[in-house]
Amino acid sequence: MAELALEVKELVKVYDPKKRGKHAGTGPVRALDGLSLEVREGELLGVLGPNGAGKTTAMRTIATLVRPTSGTVKIAGVDVEREPDRARMLLGYVSQEIALDRLLTVREHLVLAARLHRLTSSEARKRADEVLALVRLEEKADVRSRKLSGGMKKRVELGMGLVHHPKLLVLDEPTVGLDLDSRRALWDFLQGLKASGTGVLLATHSIEEAERLSDKVAIVDRGRVQRVGAPAELKAETKGDVLEVVLEGALPDDGFLEEAKKLEGARAVTRTRDGFEVATDEGARTFASLAALLTARGRAARSITYRKPTLEDVFLRVAGREFREEPV
Ligand SMILES: Nc1ncnc2c1ncn2[C@@H]1O[C@H](COP(=O)(O)OP(=O)(O)O)[C@@H](O)[C@H]1O
Ligand SMILES: [Mg+2]
Repeated sequence: MAELALEVKELVKVYDPKKRGKHAGTGPVRALDGLSLEVREGELLGVLGPNGAGKTTAMRTIATLVRPTSGTVKIAGVDVEREPDRARMLLGYVSQEIALDRLLTVREHLVLAARLHRLTSSEARKRADEVLALVRLEEKADVRSRKLSGGMKKRVELGMGLVHHPKLLVLDEPTVGLDLDSRRALWDFLQGLKASGTGVLLATHSIEEAERLSDKVAIVDRGRVQRVGAPAELKAETKGDVLEVVLEGALPDDGFLEEAKKLEGARAVTRTRDGFEVATDEGARTFASLAALLTARGRAARSITYRKPTLEDVFLRVAGREFREEPV
């Protein structure tokens, strides 16, 4: 089996209350609450969780930018607490916000990143050329970063994260704010990178992105990994069906949804764009009582269909609430 590019054990991070800034006035926040992860070389682990789940804190802690309250991080076997410099040479990190120098060119950024990772000046120039090809920015090599599109800027940052051939690349929500073409290009790029043996840790709140890219997905909520597995495995573990109901006429009101929750076998009820859906372990019985409820309420369904659970349903099951709701 491939070597471990990353091993995270029982990470805890408690932020102290701050008087100023974005987090002013809050009490201590337990952003990570015993988070454990593993990424093998050549594997992409998607860390999927809603806003506030602790993804950025986890990525920054792994990248040695935040000190954990407790727990351990090893990059390719090197403990970041004991040997931070060695660990940094083994990992590349791309933050969510673009942080380029407006006045530096693409090539200058890459050379700078290589020099910071202790390549000699001639090695750095050579490697910059290779990375320019890798992220397909040869034609923009001498363009200042302020002139680049969002997608190109992200590719510069990816390149900077890869100049030193890291064993692990850590990406925090890399496609937020990118247009569809740039997202697709980045997804393709990551597939190729995996094939080269690099381990990739990718934080995302996009179910689609997690599903498309991940060999394994870790579903993170409230600072912990709630479930981990291949997307297909996670969905298969989530037993039962979902009944999708498209209604004629008005959307269901709260009272109606409350009654739907009491249908036989129903586990959860969620609104959809044109009706609602019911997660159930007993499709046939739920179906029958649903038909009765619709009749009693004088409502007609345009369609009622069964579907298999998605990753969204997996999240609903493990977290007990919808993915898009704010955490309580
Ligand atoms: N510097 C900080 N000080 C205090 N609280 C913070 C800080 N950074 C993040 N948090 C809090 O920690 C929790 C996790 O945040 P974060 O790691 O950014 O999650 P995500 O990236 O999944 O949205 C949130 O409740 C957030 O408000
Ligand atoms: Mg974040």
